[in-house]
Amino acid sequence: MLGKSVADLETPALLIDLDIMERNLQRVADYTREHGLRLRPHTKTHKIPALGRKQIESGAAGLTVAKVSEAEVMLGSGTPDLLVAYPIIGAAKLDRLMQVAAHTRVTVSLDSLEAARQLSAAAQAAHRDIGVLAELDAGLGRVGVAPGPELVELARAIDRLPGLHLEGIAFYPGQIKTVGETAALSELIGSVARELRRAGLAIAIVSGGSTPTLFESHKIDGLNEIRPGTYIFNDRNTMLSGACSLEDCAASIMATVVSTAKPGQMIIDGGSKTFSSDRPVTAEVSFGHVVEAPEAVFTKMNEEHGYVDIRAVKRDFAIGDRVRVIPNHVCVAMNLHEFVYGVRGGYVEQVWRVEGRGKLQ
Ligand SMILES: Cc1ncc(COP(=O)(O)O)c(C=O)c1O
Repeated sequence: MLGKSVADLETPALLIDLDIMERNLQRVADYTREHGLRLRPHTKTHKIPALGRKQIESGAAGLTVAKVSEAEVMLGSGTPDLLVAYPIIGAAKLDRLMQVAAHTRVTVSLDSLEAARQLSAAAQAAHRDIGVLAELDAGLGRVGVAPGPELVELARAIDRLPGLHLEGIAFYPGQIKTVGETAALSELIGSVARELRRAGLAIAIVSGGSTPTLFESHKIDGLNEIRPGTYIFNDRNTMLSGACSLEDCAASIMATVVSTAKPGQMIIDGGSKTFSSDRPVTAEVSFGHVVEAPEAVFTKMNEEHGYVDIRAVKRDFAIGDRVRVIPNHVCVAMNLHEFVYGVRGGYVEQVWRVEGRGKLQ
């Protein structure tokens, strides 16, 4: 496969333009260095230890995962530090996490006394000291306690539990879908960090960040660590948020036109099994951006069929033609592919197995 022309790959195939990916990594490494921000990228996007290693080599202090099984896979990157940005519940998972902690420094973010108690028990039994970030809800309404007394109480409880040490706070501003909307977040995070410190708690790390807010991180009061994930490839949602342009999208799915039987429509050889059914962050209905025909609308999918409306497209498409589609949400698309292809100048330079795909537990 290595050295093969991209034109000879079977479809559907997820391609990663290596020049663009390397530029994305470099841009964020430069940005975080310039602003003194610690970078712990979320590996949920690529799910590939070799790419985690690249992130470490380009300046990341560690990596982030959501699941214990992802942590196990990411040990393969040789990372010196792993943040599990998800409450880990239950003895079996915590036992596995303690085994991960035998190989690298582990920090967990959590939002309940119950999760902290379980982690403390597992850490004591394994004779480990685990760093903890108290999770704050900064507006998404997913995990995280409300700012104010509840957060102070959680942080204090973590601080007192044996086997744990409070490192700071974490939040995920996933509700912010557009560039330039971080002023209220900045006010919130700054005041929360000050309140915790006034309460006598040592808050070394204030960890947040997403791809849409990435290049505004230095404007968020008190933030000193960011965990963007999507930035390594970017996707159509990142474009729609205004955080990148088409030239910054490294990942695309190459598909073949398999039917043009219905006038004004082409069917490509990938549907929900290839792209995922994630809708765009805006109200429009489209499952991806067709690079060769930007006016085309990818309106509908079955498992193996992609329906592309080409009525507004100026060129013709024939059976066997190939198109590249930028997916709405690249993280879930990566989860669907066993192998992905790193390409440069029209040739396959890398083939990566997506080792972290399907790691749910
Ligand atoms: C907890 C957490 N941190 C960081 C990220 C990375 O955000 P993004 O994909 O916008 O870069 C995510 C993404 O879902 C997340 O859930």
